[in-house]
Amino acid sequence: EIFGSEEDEDEEEEDSLLPENLDSILADNKTVPLDTIPSSTTVLVNRKYLLPSTYIPKNLVVPNVDFSFSYVNDKRKMRKIAATSLEKLFAAGEKKGIKLYGVSGYRSYTRQKEIYDRNVATRGKAATDAVSAMPGSSEHQTGLTIDVSAQSVSYRLDQSFGDTKEGKWLEKNCYKYGFIIRYPKDKTKITGYSYEPWHIRYVGKNLAKYLYKNNLTLEEYYKITTIDNKVAADPVEDTDTNAAADKKAETAPTPRPTKKPTATPVP
Ligand code: DAL
Ligand code: ZN
Repeated sequence: EIFGSEEDEDEEEEDSLLPENLDSILADNKTVPLDTIPSSTTVLVNRKYLLPSTYIPKNLVVPNVDFSFSYVNDKRKMRKIAATSLEKLFAAGEKKGIKLYGVSGYRSYTRQKEIYDRNVATRGKAATDAVSAMPGSSEHQTGLTIDVSAQSVSYRLDQSFGDTKEGKWLEKNCYKYGFIIRYPKDKTKITGYSYEPWHIRYVGKNLAKYLYKNNLTLEEYYKITTIDNKVAADPVEDTDTNAAADKKAETAPTPRPTKKPTATPVP
């Protein structure tokens, strides 16, 4: 298999591996074939189903939305289809008085490894595994995922975002633009991760709507039930992208600061 070069990604890639006969598959309660193609918008990535370390998505672009930080960084990027959809999502929110900010989008395998290794060094492996994906197992490597937050919670990535009007609007409306809340509160044992109201994953409009209306995670959709359960007991904050770290980075953009203000694992 040649990863990442299946198609010329001219954004007719909606619903990559979504079966044409999805309705009848689901009506008959049959299993949808598991999608592990890294470049597919319906790919399953988790602790058990990892991306190749060499996979880098094509067509990474910076969505035209506001971010919680002002410096140039790859974490602004998403795959084009996801970036375009994110712009529509944020614009729809603004029309309703909901102002969302991008915090952390694409992460390379190497970047995820740095984050993970740093968390293991400062917090230990068990605490890290509850909230931070091992390299290869983060959806951020697909370019289809972004963490978002709001000004009222200082752009933090913690569970308080889920209680804001922005977090609530996101949960109810992101499916209309092809996104899902990937780690819902009541599904931590199925996804293997703590509740992350800020982490949205592009899966295409059809699948997003189906998952939302039926209250399903991607694991349930593919009938995968064997995820190691390493869910964190306590909410955590993303120190890779928190306000203090960003302030430092803004005043001294290069090199990126290596000293972090706290030792909380990155989701
Ligand atoms: N916090 C999510 C699980 C990640 O590291 O991708
Ligand atoms: Zn995330």
